Amino acid sequence: MAARFMVTTPIYYVNDKPHIGQAYTTIAADVLARFHRTGGEETFFLTGTDEHGSKVEETAKKQGKTPRELCDMNVEHFKKAWKSLNISYDYFVRTTDARHQKAVEKLLSVMHEATTRNNEQVIYPAEYSGLYCLGCEKFITKKELVDGLCPDHLLEPKRVSEKNYFFRLSSYLEQVGELIRNDELKISPEERKKETLGLLKQGLDDFSISREKVSWGIPLPFDPKQNAYVWVDALPNYISAVGYGDDSEQFEKWWNEGEVVHLIGKDILKFHAIFWPAMLSAVGVSPPDRIFVHGFFTIDGQKMSKTLGNVVDPEYLVKKYGSDGTRYLLLTQFPFGQDGDIQVDRFVEKYNSDLANDLGNLVSRTLKMVKSYRQGEIPKPSAYQEPDENLKKEATECARTVWQSVQEINLKQAVDQVMKLVRSTNKYVESQAPWALAKADKRERLDTVLYTSCETLRIISALFYPVLPQGCVRIRELLGLSGEALNPTLEKAKEWGVLEPGTKVGTPESLFPRMEKKAKQEKTEVVVSGKETIPEVSFDEFSKIDLRVAEVKEAEKVKGADKLLKLKIDIGNEERQIVAGIAEQYSPEEMIGKRIVVVVNLKPAKIRGIESRGMLLAAKDGKILSLVCVDKDVKGGSDVS
Ligand code: MSP
Repeated sequence: MAARFMVTTPIYYVNDKPHIGQAYTTIAADVLARFHRTGGEETFFLTGTDEHGSKVEETAKKQGKTPRELCDMNVEHFKKAWKSLNISYDYFVRTTDARHQKAVEKLLSVMHEATTRNNEQVIYPAEYSGLYCLGCEKFITKKELVDGLCPDHLLEPKRVSEKNYFFRLSSYLEQVGELIRNDELKISPEERKKETLGLLKQGLDDFSISREKVSWGIPLPFDPKQNAYVWVDALPNYISAVGYGDDSEQFEKWWNEGEVVHLIGKDILKFHAIFWPAMLSAVGVSPPDRIFVHGFFTIDGQKMSKTLGNVVDPEYLVKKYGSDGTRYLLLTQFPFGQDGDIQVDRFVEKYNSDLANDLGNLVSRTLKMVKSYRQGEIPKPSAYQEPDENLKKEATECARTVWQSVQEINLKQAVDQVMKLVRSTNKYVESQAPWALAKADKRERLDTVLYTSCETLRIISALFYPVLPQGCVRIRELLGLSGEALNPTLEKAKEWGVLEPGTKVGTPESLFPRMEKKAKQEKTEVVVSGKETIPEVSFDEFSKIDLRVAEVKEAEKVKGADKLLKLKIDIGNEERQIVAGIAEQYSPEEMIGKRIVVVVNLKPAKIRGIESRGMLLAAKDGKILSLVCVDKDVKGGSDVS
């Protein structure tokens, strides 16, 4: 385990507000940074904005602002969006910062003085002419055009010709290839390493590092009429932010002694995997340790574009799904590293099934049982039995498998592994049925089951913390952890027996409230069969009965009535209360989260003085009473027909 870990995102163009593509990379970097912090590593998480160039200049002009005003305004949108997503960056670099400018000047001066192995100047002047797309901020080849337009921006490229300075990339290709082949610069996933080696094999031309025509940029120290051009300005953010040319101690600490990982999208692979190590090599600075390249996603099968109007604002998602919800949903759509599609209209379903049901219900039922059976105190376990040992083993081993996935930067896999533990814990609770143990007064067994559930929940809260920081801190508070123990660590997630018996737990709240799905509802069908004589009713008569799926939100016993439970149910557009004679067969804890079928258009009735607005359906076979429940994840309020 490296003692120090530095992770970076690309610095984003600041001519517009952030979109979910940029949020995706930033969330991934945050998850990675948080995992490494819980792993006990000193971590530096860097993000920022790329602010120079003709596009910013043009946008500013259109908006009647100076480039600086536009940057200052838009950078706030990024900072606000990252705050709403709980992005825990340690440093936000802007290429217009004086510190960054100074570092770029220093880098360019050193480069200008440097010579290659063949004793040629690394930087040399030459005439440059090419087609330039303002949208991409880069030269574009004729082959890349579609109907004469840049396919990404639907803009006609301009022909640009001028004297430029060039970086002698061609002299570094072999060296860079060597670094990549022997993994001194590790490029992953493996296909991206191959892709980079393929590009190197094809050969690459020297690239231009300056512009005369672009005035919004950093002047070259050796020819101030020219400004540093895009990549020689942007890429050095990774070293300017840790003190290159400014603070050698800090630079040594992070760049040279830390493990440095650049997280990028596949669109900027060539610049990071080839240009950047070549530039560093020219000035005698070592390359980063690793570049992880993730794929691009489409939205509902279509490329994200302003023209199509499908660019999703990350803050809109946060408003809808919360910060944790958005982080979770974006990371679990497809494997990290591959291309994928984001189906926003499936978000509600996924949120409800994973966060509201699986995780949310586990938290609320576990804590509720501790409240009702043990006066809110974590009990002391006695002898562990096989099911407890199995869950304990799965929980304590989960930290290792998750950490392994994190090392591979396989983030979706890491998330899925924790969710698997959540599901196993729910199954454990179902199978050990603490409500039945309570009823049978099997105290010792009940204590062991409750303790095992709470401990596993503590481990889950540590392993899910990097993805769901807000929710997991809350879970830890509810479990009675405080002070230092509130901070999750990987070490403690491998241990068992950390929760102190006797600790008071908090009152559970709905951590991930279930969401409404606006889309057309699916019909839920309940098929009734098996009765020999069924009195016939007309369709008209039957259709008067309004049957709905209802989710049980709260349940409690009715004082002085052994058979009755008072339930709070969610029937989609409202919450209501019903009283049902099921207390001998079902405990309140067991009822929470169940999706039962209810007749909702009965006149309100009073049972033992308590209002009941509806009647649930149940099957009865002698003494056995079994609730009619739906077995798929249909939301409360769905029609039953
Ligand atoms: N400013 C340059 C980067 C300089 S880094 C030294 C730049 N900026 S950008 O604003 O265009 O951001 C590009 C990055 O945004 C991609 O590399 C990727 O991280 C992210 N994404 C943009 N669209 C995306 C998708 N559709 N899907 C996934 N990530 C996306 O390039």
